[in-house]
Amino acid sequence: MLAIRRASPIIVKSCRSISTVHNVSKVSPNDRDLTQYEKVVISRMIRVDQSGEVGAYYIYKGQIAVLGEDPKLRPLLEIMWDQEKHHLELFDNLVGEHRVRPSLLRPIWEAAGFLVGASTALMGKEAAMACTEAVETVIGKHYNEQLRELRAFRNPNRQLDYLSKTVSSCRDDELEHHDIAVDHNARQAPFHSLLSAVIKQGCKSAIWIAARV
Ligand SMILES: [Fe+2]
Ligand SMILES: [Fe+2]
Repeated sequence: MLAIRRASPIIVKSCRSISTVHNVSKVSPNDRDLTQYEKVVISRMIRVDQSGEVGAYYIYKGQIAVLGEDPKLRPLLEIMWDQEKHHLELFDNLVGEHRVRPSLLRPIWEAAGFLVGASTALMGKEAAMACTEAVETVIGKHYNEQLRELRAFRNPNRQLDYLSKTVSSCRDDELEHHDIAVDHNARQAPFHSLLSAVIKQGCKSAIWIAARV
């Protein structure tokens, strides 16, 4: 419980910082148009990020379905779940704003997320946390790669800046989820190394597929 109390204020503060990001996406009349190349690149990014946030939302939903009766764990899971809901809203809005074709596999991301969340939770609290640790490790790196790609666009543009700020805010939250999972004994899960390797590979494969389909 102590660890939950320690983590909660950090999470709330971070979530507010994302909300403030959401007001800067309006296109300025003086802003340049995105190039065709930039549009292609950011469409892929937004599609894969929306898919990832769908998966994350359903992972926490699956964890809560199994561990929701635990009075110590439920508040922590619900705080992280709320943040994933907010991330998903941000990318849903970006999909609309940039007229991105969403992934055709959304039902798969939903089912797979729930299955991974619920099945690891059935293995115990530590395995649920090991799942979060593994997923957020991959997603944190994925968002960092996107930020490097966005920084390579040297010509300033308000939409690119907004996307960078959104990705950066989500990345900070995902890394915080990672740290919370480690603090809650993720590395004491049975077969931690194997479990972590399988989940990480699954996440990497999902990212590769969602960027394309
Ligand atoms: Fe997220
Ligand atoms: Fe997360």
